[in-house]
Amino acid sequence: MKTSHTFGGDWTEQKLERLQKYLKAYTTIFTKNKRAQKLIPIYVDAFAGTGYRTKPLQLTESLSLFEEFTEPEVENFLKGSAWLALEVKPSFQKYIFIEQNTAHVKELQKLQTIFSGKQDNIQIIQSDANNWLQDWCRDTDWKTHRAVVFLDPYGMQVEWKLIEALAKTKAIDLWLLFPIGVAVNRLLTKGGKPPLVWEQTLTRVFGTEDWRDNFYSEKTETTLFGDNDVTVKEADFAKIGEFFVNRLKTVFSEVAENPLPLRNSQNTILYLLCFAAGNPTGAKTAVRIAQHILKP
Ligand SMILES: C[S@@+](CC[C@H](N)C(=O)[O-])C[C@H]1O[C@@H](n2cnc3c(N)ncnc32)[C@H](O)[C@@H]1O
Repeated sequence: MKTSHTFGGDWTEQKLERLQKYLKAYTTIFTKNKRAQKLIPIYVDAFAGTGYRTKPLQLTESLSLFEEFTEPEVENFLKGSAWLALEVKPSFQKYIFIEQNTAHVKELQKLQTIFSGKQDNIQIIQSDANNWLQDWCRDTDWKTHRAVVFLDPYGMQVEWKLIEALAKTKAIDLWLLFPIGVAVNRLLTKGGKPPLVWEQTLTRVFGTEDWRDNFYSEKTETTLFGDNDVTVKEADFAKIGEFFVNRLKTVFSEVAENPLPLRNSQNTILYLLCFAAGNPTGAKTAVRIAQHILKP
């Protein structure tokens, strides 16, 4: 493996562990259920990365005494979401990995050799996930297919239009990393509404302009020099999270009420791991399982 793909921290392990647990539960139920057996289950990883991630190896005290003997480029190798999904048993019948970055796509292609038994079931797409998936949602026959889609962006790349398209199929379970701390809360500026470009980004992610009234209020402040009208930020992490879960509920059959906050080593919230189920028949069971998995 030559390409380094370094991202995340312990929270990444938490995220992937939960995703893998759900995938196992999903394919197990799918295999046992007579009606489901007639359907084709697909796993879609829409921000697939390389299939693995690397993190610099921490030198222990004794090792660091002999630093000249250690390889500076030594890295710790950890399996990524695509790799873990391929390990899930029972297997999905099809795997779709979407990735924009050419070097990452090359690494993903190695999974077809590593999992040679599943080679013909793995489709790797180099594309923007938003565009490709919306077309795929429209063109797939949802009478015969079901899917779990994992959206794992670094930031605010997931557009509401995509979430709507996934929900509209009524056949997809969605796991989504919502970038509450790394992006959304930062765009919601204090001391006045965000600049226009940021407002447009927030509207693209929430699919509505209602965030303005939910996250800001107009107040009159009395100062020594008279009254001042000011815009006050009311949004905190709890409000933003609740607003997003409610947005998901407008399009999905059922949504997990307890998205998991993923925190860095300083205990700062970076993302919310969210779950929503689209198929009205299975949604209640799916959400019950996901809510259990999402418990801290
Ligand atoms: C956080 S990483 C994914 C990590 C991966 N899920 C794992 O567990 O190994 C996000 C990936 O999304 C890719 N990416 C960013 N924007 C994209 C887009 N619009 N469409 C598809 N892939 C994109 C990046 O190149 C990066 O590899």
